[in-house]
Amino acid sequence: MSVHKDAKRITTQVLHEMKQSGERIAMLTAYDFSMTRLVDQAGIDIILVGDSASNVMAGHETTLPITLDQMIYHASSVVRGAKRALVVVDLPFGTYQGNSKQALNSAIRIMKESGAHAVKLEGGREVRESIERILSAGIPVMGHLGLTPQSIYKFGTYSVRAKQEEEAKLLREDAKMLNDIGCFAIVFEKIPASLAGEVTASVACPTIGIGAGADCDGQVLVLHDMLGITQDFSPRFLRRYSNLGDQMLDAIQNYVSDVRSRDFPSKDEQY
Ligand code: KIV
Repeated sequence: MSVHKDAKRITTQVLHEMKQSGERIAMLTAYDFSMTRLVDQAGIDIILVGDSASNVMAGHETTLPITLDQMIYHASSVVRGAKRALVVVDLPFGTYQGNSKQALNSAIRIMKESGAHAVKLEGGREVRESIERILSAGIPVMGHLGLTPQSIYKFGTYSVRAKQEEEAKLLREDAKMLNDIGCFAIVFEKIPASLAGEVTASVACPTIGIGAGADCDGQVLVLHDMLGITQDFSPRFLRRYSNLGDQMLDAIQNYVSDVRSRDFPSKDEQY
C-alpha cells in the first residue's frame, strides 16, 4: 500500500508516514496559480513557495530583497491552485531573525493571509527560539540547513557546505535540534551526500535534499530550473527535465512573425 497515493491531501503526518515506509517525497517550487495547477496535477507532494521567487520571478540577484507582502502574494496564488500538495512558504530574509516575536508575527501573517499550510526558515541554533515560538502557535515548520542562500554575503559563494568536519558536526547537531524541537521536515542544500544520508538515518523527520544526494527522504528543485525556463544556471545537482525556455522562445518568435506577416489572425480566428 502506498501512503501518498491514498492521501487526498498531503499533510505533515502523511510525510512522516512516507519516511517510515521508505516512500520518496517529491517537492518543487511554484510561485503562481497556473504553474501550481500543473505541478499539483502531476502529483507533487510538497509545493514550496520559495524565496527563490526573488530570483526567478523578480529578477533579483539574491533572495534577500523579496518582502513578506510579496511572498504572501505568491503564496495565496499557489494555495488557490494546489488541491492536494502541502504548501510551504519561505519566511523571507529579515522577517524572523530579529526576535522570536517578529518571527511569529511573520509566520502568522503568511498562514492567515495566504492560507498556506506551513513555513520554512533557514538556519539552526541561531533561529531556535524563533522556530519554537512559531511551533508553539501550531504552525508547522520546515528547517533548512547547509547552503542557506539568505546568508550568501556571509558565505561569499554558493559552493558546497559542511565538507570539513567542524561544519559537518554543527550541521549534525542543528539537524538533531530541529528534529527534537518538532520541525516536520528539514531541507539540506548542497552538502556532501554521505553527510546527508547519515543525518537522514538519524532523525525521525523527513529530509529533503537539493544537491544533497540520493539518501535524503525526498528531493526538491526550483521549477523554472528543472523545466529549462531559466537557462543560465547549471549546477551539477540540477537535472533538466525539459527545455521549455527554447520552446517558449520558438513559440513567441513564431507569433511575432505571424503578426508581422498578417498570417495571424486568419479568417477562422476572427468574429
Ligand atoms: O527558495 C527556494 O527555492 C528554496 C529551495 C532551493 C529549497 O529554498
